[in-house]
Amino acid sequence: MYKPVTVLGLETSCDETAAAVVHLDANGKAHYLTDQIYSQIDEHALYGGVVPEIAARAHVGALDALIKAAMVEANITFDDLTGVAATTGPGLVGGVMVGMMSGKAIALAHNIPFLSINHLEGHALSPMLAQQSGDEPLTFPYLLLLVSGGHTQLLSVEGLGQYTRLGSTIDDAVGEAFDKSAKIMDLGFPGGPALEKAALQGDASRFTLPRPLAGKPGCDFSFAGLKSAVRRTWEEWPQKDDQARADLAATFQLAATDVLAGRTANAMDIFAKTHGARALVVAGGVAANTVLRLRLMDVAKSKGFAFIAPPMSLCTDNGGMIAHAGALYLRAGRKGDDLDISARPRWPLDEHAARAHPASGSGKKGPKS
Ligand code: KG4
Ligand code: ZN
Repeated sequence: MYKPVTVLGLETSCDETAAAVVHLDANGKAHYLTDQIYSQIDEHALYGGVVPEIAARAHVGALDALIKAAMVEANITFDDLTGVAATTGPGLVGGVMVGMMSGKAIALAHNIPFLSINHLEGHALSPMLAQQSGDEPLTFPYLLLLVSGGHTQLLSVEGLGQYTRLGSTIDDAVGEAFDKSAKIMDLGFPGGPALEKAALQGDASRFTLPRPLAGKPGCDFSFAGLKSAVRRTWEEWPQKDDQARADLAATFQLAATDVLAGRTANAMDIFAKTHGARALVVAGGVAANTVLRLRLMDVAKSKGFAFIAPPMSLCTDNGGMIAHAGALYLRAGRKGDDLDISARPRWPLDEHAARAHPASGSGKKGPKS
C-alpha cells in the first residue's frame, strides 16, 4: 500500500502551455484526472518555427486560466493537492520561468511542496502514466528512445532519477530534422506531423538519401547530413510539385526511421548484456510518428523486447507527464524543492555522460524551427 498523492503539473518549456492533475492511489495506480493544453501553434506558424519571446508571452496569457480549468475539471481545490510540479528545464528559459514561478507561488500560498521536474524525465516516465488495467506493468529498468524537437537519445532508465545514456545525437535532433525538412519543402508548420501526412501519398524509393552512421557500432545519432541532403535534393529538383514533395517526404521519413531503428537495435544489444531483454519504450514528440512506431515494434520483437509507446496525446508535450513525475517523486519521499532554484535551459538526464561528452546530448532544448 502506498500513500495516495495528488499533484498539479505545469508545462511551459516550449510551445504548449499545460496544466494537469494526476492522482496516484493507494495501490500505486495512476489516475490522469485532467490535462488542459493550449497549443501555441497558430501564434508561431507565421514565422515557421517557435519564437521564444512570443512563446513566453503566450504562456503568461494562458496559464492561469488553464490551472483554473484543470482544478474545475479534476473537481478538486488547492487544499486537495499533495504537491505542485513544474518543468524547470531544459527548454526555452523565458517560458520555463512562467510555469516555474506559478508553481512556486501555488506551493507557497497553499503550503505544499514544490517539485522541480526535468522535462525529459517527464517524457521518460510517461509510458507508466498511460498504462491501462490489464497491461503488463512497466517496471525499471527499461530502454528508452527519447525523440523530440530538441533531443534524440537512448537511455537506460534504471529508476527515478537514474539514467545511463547509451547514445545521443552528435548534431541535430530528429524532430529538428523533420521540422527543417518540412520547411525546406514548404509543407507547413509544425513540420513533423505535416511531413508524416505528406509522406502518406509518397513513394519512398523515388529519391536517394543517406543514412548517417548506419551499420557502424555504437548508439550515437547524426541527422545534420540527412537534413542537408534533403535541402540539396529539393533545391536541385526541377519540378517542385506536390508529388515530388510527397515522395521526398516519404524518402526522408524512411531514412530517419532506418537510422533510429538501426541505432536502437545496437542499444538493445548493449542493454540486454546487463539487464536482459526487457522493454523498449519510445517517448517524445517524434514518437507520435506511426511509421517509426511500427518499425520500432518490429525491431523490439526481433530482439525479444516488449515494445511500449505512450498514446499520441502523451507523446507531444503535456502537463500530465510533469504531474506524474512529481507524484512519483513525492511518493518516493522527496520533500519538495527550494523555492530559490532557477530555471535550467540545459539539463541532461545523465549528467555524468554529459560532462564526459559535452558536445553531444547536452540536454539543451531549443526553438523547434
Ligand atoms: O516532445 P515535443 O512535443 O517537444 C519537445 O520537447 O521538443 O516534440 C516536438 C517534436 C517536433 O519536432 C515535431 O515536429 C515532432 O516532435 N513531431 C513529429 C510528429 N509529431 C510531432 N515528428 C514526426 N512525426 C510526427 N507525427
Ligand atoms: Zn517535449
